[in-house]
Amino acid sequence: MMKVLFAGCLLFLLLNVAHVECRVAPVESRRHDDDSSPDRLYKLFIFGDSIADDGNVPNPGLNRGSRAWYYPYGMSDDDHDNSPTGRFSNNMVQSDFLAKILGHDESPPPYAAHKARRGKKSNRINSSGMNFANASSGAVYLVPTLGAQIDQFSSLVSDGVITERDLDESVALVAYSGRDYGRISNSASDDYIARFADDVTEEIAGIVKQLQELGVPKVLVNSVPPLGCTPWMSRFTNYDHCDKRGNMISDAHNTALLDKLGKEKNVMLLDVNTMFTELVSPKPGSTLSKQFKYMYQPCCESIDASGYCGQYDGNRPLFRLCRNPDEYFYWDYIHPTHAGWKAVMQLLQGPIMAFLGISNLNHF
Ligand SMILES: *[C@@H]1O[C@H](CO)[C@@H](O)[C@H](O)[C@H]1NC(C)=O
Ligand SMILES: *[C@@H]1O[C@H](CO)[C@@H](O)[C@H](O)[C@H]1NC(C)=O
Repeated sequence: MMKVLFAGCLLFLLLNVAHVECRVAPVESRRHDDDSSPDRLYKLFIFGDSIADDGNVPNPGLNRGSRAWYYPYGMSDDDHDNSPTGRFSNNMVQSDFLAKILGHDESPPPYAAHKARRGKKSNRINSSGMNFANASSGAVYLVPTLGAQIDQFSSLVSDGVITERDLDESVALVAYSGRDYGRISNSASDDYIARFADDVTEEIAGIVKQLQELGVPKVLVNSVPPLGCTPWMSRFTNYDHCDKRGNMISDAHNTALLDKLGKEKNVMLLDVNTMFTELVSPKPGSTLSKQFKYMYQPCCESIDASGYCGQYDGNRPLFRLCRNPDEYFYWDYIHPTHAGWKAVMQLLQGPIMAFLGISNLNHF
């Protein structure tokens, strides 16, 4: 019964008309599922950029790129002493919530941690998997590319660090959020944007194929969030609405992605774009509207438009921090808060469980 419901839900998502029906059914109606056999515990391999990274970016000292290693990043993260962990959020990021849906506590550890202790301790990977996502990454133009992350993964497979058994029980997430599109100039034509999106999605489709050839049975691929709704762009509207052109670029990407991967078996397109849009810029009458008091304005805002959250001039902070991050969808100019990601991933939990055949609802 639940399976059927979820499958219908998945269809809704693919048709891009997701509504609250896709929320996971309340626990009450799931009680009878309790006696079913326990879910298998998937290992998780994560690829992508800053929306999924949990510590792969080096920390050479505070700068824009390494800011996730500094206050106020991680300030709400009770499980890690409210300290920064290299995640671009006040607490958890998308990869953590996916891990929770799978029954783990948080994202698997970063590849960087494995690399750092290579040769010293046991060479086994963590039983929850490994996270290769690197906040500096793009698909084509920014290094290390997603392809380089696959190379890191692939060499662990050839070295036998990741075993066939690990792979058999695994699922991969490709969490690409569109950084390459920052290269597109304001005067670029629609045709140019379409060709650009074609190149980027071609690369992503290739990545998915490589993962499958390496033996990963199920792959989740994010759509790109509405770039025009990020505070980085909506600040030009005084945080009043999303930038149309930015969203058009996301749409070009997502259309091309659907075209290339929409019919692939064992690949699920995770429509984070629709969920962001529903939460940040809901259509009139949507039941999701006003879940967040502040939909466009970030909790952590740099005083200088060219600055960044966490920047200091000596002891003087060059950013303003909100009182309650839970009231905000966005944490900094680009990234959602913990509460933002939680809301997005709750909307996707049912379809993900259906795709992976998970029957236990893990609350988060
Ligand atoms: C595996 O990873 C989890 C999450 O990062 C961590 O809490 C746990 O301590 C790790 N286990 C081992 C054996 O290192
Ligand atoms: C992540 O990308 C940065 C910037 O290119 C690179 O220096 C770093 O080594 C990468 N991290 C890992 C774990 O490969």
